[in-house]
Amino acid sequence: MSDVLADVAADRVIVALDTPKVESALKIVDRLTPTVSRFKVGLELFCAGGLQAVSAIQKSGGELFVDLKLHDIPNTVAGAARVLNNAGVWMTNVHASGGRDMMTAAREALGETILLAVTVLTSIDQQTFSEHWQIQESIVDTVGRWAETAAECGLDGVVCSPQEVEIIRQTVGDDFLVVTPGIRPKWAAAGDQRRITTPQQAIERGSDYLVIGRPITQADNPQAAAEKIIASVGTSLEGRGIDDR
Ligand code: C5P
Repeated sequence: MSDVLADVAADRVIVALDTPKVESALKIVDRLTPTVSRFKVGLELFCAGGLQAVSAIQKSGGELFVDLKLHDIPNTVAGAARVLNNAGVWMTNVHASGGRDMMTAAREALGETILLAVTVLTSIDQQTFSEHWQIQESIVDTVGRWAETAAECGLDGVVCSPQEVEIIRQTVGDDFLVVTPGIRPKWAAAGDQRRITTPQQAIERGSDYLVIGRPITQADNPQAAAEKIIASVGTSLEGRGIDDR
């Protein structure tokens, strides 16, 4: 694999720093840099370290996705989004189920920050989805519908399972980011994730970014796990004839 392709593959991987300790997160960042250059602060680390954790990780380099999955009334979400915008985060998100007004308020507050709509969590399977929300349509159709609404509200993309990339490309097209957690190499445990694919399958289906936590951070050798995943992403990109995005 060429160096360019290896870099493109590495850029597609966002490592989830799910830990309650800022020092542990910084250790992981240190260990994985420069193999990985994009990281994610989620609820656990944000509850533990707030914007100080965000700033410390930003200082260590790389792009930062702050994954708080905001979901509240439009005014409150806009206020939180302004704080994240001022912190200079690369990417953040709100729940699509919060509705049009909420997504629009977040968009207006966020300036240049990439804003994604979280569709249906990858830990939810079809049976749980149907029983809990009593929604008759399939998860795939709901994700497609919410992606369309998110695009209409000016969002840059969605978070969904790699299993739903096709419907998003059909409804919204190629110029819309699809960021997919629920990534499990064959050698990793699924844990609480339900709608999963391997890294290769996610790229083959057209994901732009893969969010990967435990398969890397809980591995005996996180650096080796990241390298193995990035190599497989590179092979899939090569198979799709992609070497520059
Ligand atoms: O450890 P694992 O690879 O399952 O981590 C996935 C990460 O992606 C977690 O930080 C989780 O909060 C996040 N996420 C998710 N499903 C979504 C949105 C975000 O798993 N729909």
